[in-house]
Amino acid sequence: MSLFGRKKATDRILPEHIAIIMDGNGRWAKKRSLPRSAGHVAGAKTFKTIARYCNKIGIKYLTVYAFSTENWKRPAEEVEGIMNLLRDYLKDAENFKHENIKVKFIGDLSPLADDIKELIRKDEEGSADATGLKLNIAVNYGGRDELVHAVKRIISEGTPPEQVTEKLISDHLYTAGMPDPDFIIRPSGEYRTSNFLLWQSAYAEYRFSDILWPDFTPAQLERAIDDYSRRNRRFGGI
Ligand code: IPE
Ligand code: IPE
Ligand code: MG
Repeated sequence: MSLFGRKKATDRILPEHIAIIMDGNGRWAKKRSLPRSAGHVAGAKTFKTIARYCNKIGIKYLTVYAFSTENWKRPAEEVEGIMNLLRDYLKDAENFKHENIKVKFIGDLSPLADDIKELIRKDEEGSADATGLKLNIAVNYGGRDELVHAVKRIISEGTPPEQVTEKLISDHLYTAGMPDPDFIIRPSGEYRTSNFLLWQSAYAEYRFSDILWPDFTPAQLERAIDDYSRRNRRFGGI
């Protein structure tokens, strides 16, 4: 029995699509006098736990912000460390095999190292038939960059201006064919989007909290979903 789109006193409405800005790894490490890289390692663990949990409770889509188009500004050593974590994750045979999670990477993957691109291809191909959670991992993702790519493609396809519609734009984004995020969670005490899902978030519910991403637990996700469940979404109506 599906909980989507219904609300009884005893039911709660699950967001169909949750998006998470996985922020606060660096501060988590600093608090423990550890190098920032340790925060990213801990954050990657939390990511796996939360993705598995979303799959378990029947969330349909989870989109996580792992690396932004602006994160290249960081020291080369930190960027390299994050790329190596991505490599490790992709090489880890245990990942989400046998868990029925379908993985897709969103973002401009072109500047990534060739071996990472190949691992991504294998990961996506290997999980293509999964019917459980659809997990989008945003790497070198920027909402503005995504729109620039979409506009370039629309122009190169020779689309006349009168045929440019909201749907056409949505269909040219990395998230083409997916529902917009219902619920965007940002831990770490920052109150901004940092270029995440700019177009898709038009009517998303947001939730901010002070917890640092490596400390985020399934129990916190449950609390967030309870909060979402009580929101009154109007989409401009009454
Ligand atoms: C999020 O944690 C991970 C990435 C952006 C790659 P941060 O590294 O931004 O952690 P803080 O914000 O410095 O604590
Ligand atoms: C957003 O976090 C990007 C990711 C979590 C991948 P940042 O740490 O890069 O965002 P700002 O710089 O604080 O806005
Ligand atoms: Mg940050």
